[in-house]
Amino acid sequence: MCGIVGYVGDRQALDVVLEGLARLEYRGYDSAGIALVTGDPRATGLTTEKRAGKLAVLAGVLAEQAPPPSTTGIGHTRWATHGAPNDRNAHPHLDCTGRIAVIHNGIIENFSGLRAELQERGHVLVSETDTEVVAHLLEEVLVADGTGTWVDLAESVRRVARRLKGAFTLVVVDADQPDVVVGARRSSPLVVGRGDGENFLASDVTAFIAHTRRAIELGQDQVVELRRDRVQITSFDGSAAVVTEYEVDWDVAAAEKAGYEHFMLKEIAEQPRAVADTLIGRIDARGGLVLDEMRLSDADLREVDKILIVACGTAYHAGLIAKYAIEHWTRIPCEVEIASEFRYRDPILDRQTLVIAISQSGETMDTLMAVRHAREQHAQVLAICNTNGSTIPRESDAVLYTHAGPEIGVAATKTFLTQVVAVYLVALYLAQVRGTKYADEVREVIAELAVLPEKVEKVLETMEPVRELARSLVDARTVLFLGRHVGYPVALEGALKLKELAYMHAEGFPAGELKHGPIALIEEGMPVVVTVPSPRGRGVLHDKMISNIAEVRARGARTIVLAEEGDESVVDLADVLVRVPPTPTLLAPVVTTVPLQVLAYELAVARGFDVDQPRNLAKSVTVE
Ligand code: AGP
Repeated sequence: MCGIVGYVGDRQALDVVLEGLARLEYRGYDSAGIALVTGDPRATGLTTEKRAGKLAVLAGVLAEQAPPPSTTGIGHTRWATHGAPNDRNAHPHLDCTGRIAVIHNGIIENFSGLRAELQERGHVLVSETDTEVVAHLLEEVLVADGTGTWVDLAESVRRVARRLKGAFTLVVVDADQPDVVVGARRSSPLVVGRGDGENFLASDVTAFIAHTRRAIELGQDQVVELRRDRVQITSFDGSAAVVTEYEVDWDVAAAEKAGYEHFMLKEIAEQPRAVADTLIGRIDARGGLVLDEMRLSDADLREVDKILIVACGTAYHAGLIAKYAIEHWTRIPCEVEIASEFRYRDPILDRQTLVIAISQSGETMDTLMAVRHAREQHAQVLAICNTNGSTIPRESDAVLYTHAGPEIGVAATKTFLTQVVAVYLVALYLAQVRGTKYADEVREVIAELAVLPEKVEKVLETMEPVRELARSLVDARTVLFLGRHVGYPVALEGALKLKELAYMHAEGFPAGELKHGPIALIEEGMPVVVTVPSPRGRGVLHDKMISNIAEVRARGARTIVLAEEGDESVVDLADVLVRVPPTPTLLAPVVTTVPLQVLAYELAVARGFDVDQPRNLAKSVTVE
């Protein structure tokens, strides 16, 4: 939520900052702003510009009225929390003198008390944001310290950060201390990019990947002082921090559209590769599983007596699928919980509980809070994550990275499929370690996992009927999605995609539940999308689903049926039939989700909506 960029070097900071913001716009896009240390006396040495709307609005203004040259700057793209998305509430926020500029991601929970204090002391606050208090608190340290002692920007940020409650990434410049940008981080992401004679700060590496792949993730409660030739990281208390630099293993091409009309379309197309990459290195020569990087000992895994999965949105749906695989393969009881609900119900956890936190960004605040709660209760936490070095894996006992590459489209697609693959790997590994599956049984499933990329490829090659179907659904008011067993989370995911991208009312139901109420919704011509379980799997599941299709059809529904090639029992019940390659029951979501992603994408495009940046959303939800 909110994208942040900072730069000090020899280039024009405006160019670097705008380019970085363009790459981070997926994090929030209701307003944008920049601050440049320009030494321009007309503007207290600081030039700022901010505008409601997408980054293009700000860029247009800056193109018409170019700011003075500057090699030190910061920029922000916002997802509003406190205060409407208008020009006034856009970041940066300034102090009373106009010399200090602050941008922020997160929520400062004690801002109203601080605001009242500041107003009492004569400060004039002009926005409705929580952020603005930081600029004025810095002013009190830097401008009106009273002691007469000069305080540097990093020290002033440390002092102010210690007074703040909540989650925040702050990035600050001071016109009187040019050539330095200072950032602070608590429970919200901030990464340093190390260049030669230049350094970068950003919410994530995509902002500076075109310039450098050398990165340092800031730790919890740390402050960074960024200069052209030096990066100094300390804790909020001023003590030196231990810093680990790493090399990002993908390049700028991965964060670009590569000729596709939308990032989402590119990311859907990348799924076979993403699934294959997530399997690479995890299968040994004898077909067994190796998850050395997971950092949980086999002894610990043998002790686990309960698994709890926490996640949000699409990642939660991956968790629901995991439950079926985990319980079936390992016989360990498994619960799945929406992360934002988890800690409030006082879950029963102990050292034998394995909590699996699934998050593509690794920064989702609801999931992070669930992780912290689980660790406080002495549970062991395994993160499944797509973002190297992000907060959730760092705060977990162990991590299994998915290798989907950067996902820019706000709707999760390739990261979902790789999360599902990762949970299969965890479940199988547990089964292998605990002996609930024989080695040859594990190998059989692994062999099936290995052919999933081909199957996804095949689905992608046969999507024309889905595109046609989407065109026919442009005016539908409601679309229902039905599934059974692992098809139920797939139905939920299909409905979520349609809501967030095409802004259509959509619901996912377990097909058997329909007759307990929701079937009353069915009216003549209502589209109902049904994922049919494999007839080669548990036959009873398949047959029950056939009856459920007949039930909705009898009430006038237009049935859109996703079924395995060769399943002839569905032909007479389907108004539209979409075929998927035969896949074992538990692994089927990896193929059956793909047509639903394509359907949502096509419908959103047909309805004229912004697919990559749907309204009201942001890619990483870093507030609770
Ligand atoms: C899905 O399309 C959404 N963008 C959203 O539900 C997302 O999956 C959720 O916010 C969780 O994000 P995470 O995986 O980064 O934790």
